[in-house]
Amino acid sequence: MKIRKVSEFYFKNMDAELNKRLTDGSIPAPNTDEPIVKQPDALFTFAVFGDPQVSHYMFAREATFYTTCRDLKAMPEPLDALCIVGDISENGMGCEYRMVAKILNEVADKIKHIVLMPGNHDLRLRSFLVQQWQFRSFVQSVQNGVPPEKGKYWFACDFESCRFLVMGSDRGSFEGSHLSRRQLKWLERELTETEKQNKVAFVMNHQPLKKSNGLPPAWQGIGRWRGSVGNQDKALRKILCSHKNVFYVTGHLHQGVCQTSFEEIGGCKCLNVPTVGANNHGACNELSQGYVITVFRDRVEMRARLFGKGTYVSEDIPNAFISVPIE
Ligand SMILES: [Fe+2]
Repeated sequence: MKIRKVSEFYFKNMDAELNKRLTDGSIPAPNTDEPIVKQPDALFTFAVFGDPQVSHYMFAREATFYTTCRDLKAMPEPLDALCIVGDISENGMGCEYRMVAKILNEVADKIKHIVLMPGNHDLRLRSFLVQQWQFRSFVQSVQNGVPPEKGKYWFACDFESCRFLVMGSDRGSFEGSHLSRRQLKWLERELTETEKQNKVAFVMNHQPLKKSNGLPPAWQGIGRWRGSVGNQDKALRKILCSHKNVFYVTGHLHQGVCQTSFEEIGGCKCLNVPTVGANNHGACNELSQGYVITVFRDRVEMRARLFGKGTYVSEDIPNAFISVPIE
């Protein structure tokens, strides 16, 4: 009862702060002149970003996340999906998830499937099983949310031209993750199935592979595993690289769009997306960055977007636009 009261108190504070900022005009509305538009020959279009890290005391985070989501509201027709690759909350608290759900539910009519997964921030502060239950309840409270099954974070989403294989740690960790053998076997099976169906696989996970996407310097260069998926790196890499048309999409690094946002490793296409909550580092360091990804019959296009401004990132920035042929 006491926890519920404290959670209610924090949520009311967060809600009041958001309303205050909306009323005094300190939350800028994104430009609506260049909304995300599904191209006529597109088979599937989705937005992906990471790390909103909505917080019960850092109120700027919820404001930035709110602005990001308003960009989706301006779309003339609904997106096929939105995917947030972890660190949805700062501390994994009920009030933080409640605020995320409230903001997403205001734009859910413009998104057919909302795919959410945990990052280390979601898992770091309390019992793993309690948090797993809380996270599932949170996704169930989001309109068009795709909740994981009971007892695990990982699951597959089937679409006509592609499949999302959503991963998630099997243990709580302050900064890292743990991918169980069961999860890795599941991933291998699902990638085989995806290939058999001749579809593109988007494997979504919070942390990138070791020495990929700018690591270790992208994580201030400290330690060999920090910033990456950690101990299961070798096993995961082997699976990802043994199938065709695999895109491994991650967050966690808070890295603005740059030279290392995208790279191919052994045939696997690794995309690291920026944060829409905390600060992005690098030359292109604006808040609210992410990618809009479109699957065509012969290629996948990834276009970096400043959701908070309602515009695309200038193509002068490396990896602001990436086109990858489908085999
Ligand atoms: Fe993280």
